[in-house]
Amino acid sequence: MKHFLKETDFKLHEVAEVMALARDLKAKRGRHTPPVLAGQTWAMIFSKSSTRTRVSFEVGIHELGGNPLFLNRNDIQLGRGESIEDTARVLSRFVHGLIVRTFDHSDVERLAAAGTVPVINALTDFLHPCQIYTDAFTVAERWSKTTGGDLLASLRGRKIAFIGDTACNMAYSWILGANLFGMKVSLGGPEAFRPTPEFDAFLAQQGFAGGYEFTSDPVAAVREADIVYTDVWVSMGKEEESRERLRIMAPFQVTSDLFAKAKPDAYFLHCLPAHPGEEVTQAVLDNPRSIIFDQAENRLHVQKAIMAVLAQTPRN
Ligand code: CP
Ligand code: NVA
Repeated sequence: MKHFLKETDFKLHEVAEVMALARDLKAKRGRHTPPVLAGQTWAMIFSKSSTRTRVSFEVGIHELGGNPLFLNRNDIQLGRGESIEDTARVLSRFVHGLIVRTFDHSDVERLAAAGTVPVINALTDFLHPCQIYTDAFTVAERWSKTTGGDLLASLRGRKIAFIGDTACNMAYSWILGANLFGMKVSLGGPEAFRPTPEFDAFLAQQGFAGGYEFTSDPVAAVREADIVYTDVWVSMGKEEESRERLRIMAPFQVTSDLFAKAKPDAYFLHCLPAHPGEEVTQAVLDNPRSIIFDQAENRLHVQKAIMAVLAQTPRN
């Protein structure tokens, strides 16, 4: 059974397939056939808030001919202590795929191990792979004009600077994705929020030991960057640490001055939701090189492609 829990769950040729299909689905929205999820129901188990992920998956499943079934964790028995394994076994008897947003990454791994349908990670405390594939697609759409339309090739050798909380799910996911796509990653954040030794061990186990640079100098981090990326300083579940996080990360706000230190044709990306005045200024969000709303839209096209590829992969 094939799942999408982390960036490296797809080989490079499959990433290329996802990206090419996303481009096709985007170009032919409303006219694309066949409806690859016809007759299928995909359940979405969410334990955290969501605007983009929830809506893009619900709309995407519908557009592929399937039926989305949204389940708040607390509405089902999982929220009252039924085991993850039994939940996976039972839901697998009813639905054709599971899309899961939760806290512990091990929860999505356990659902995948116990169930018999594909599981998609819709964000955990550790990784947010749907977002990273979308982000990469969003810049590749633009850069691939110089690589004869080859989306993946257009990413190779590019540099992303990730600024702020460099120990959050978005930073970790981008480090993994960038290494898979052949990109360079430079992190600019406080020492207290650099990737943990556990993450470094995971990265090494994925075949990318030492696959990033870290500095506490944000200017050094963005130098020669093709993408400047940031994310909220207080991720979901970290609200109790808000005051301390905002204080420690204050020097890492992405301002127009900082953005100007990247390449002149660099793009600004943010997974959203943004907190203007915290991790980024409104001026940067409004900069013509900020492509955050194309990025948000592309969640729909890329996730449809991911579901289509998983649905068409033979099951064992
Ligand atoms: N970027 C993202 O995942 O947004 P939501 O939390 O709104 O789904
Ligand atoms: N790091 C953020 C990402 C939100 C899409 C969080 O986990 O809250």
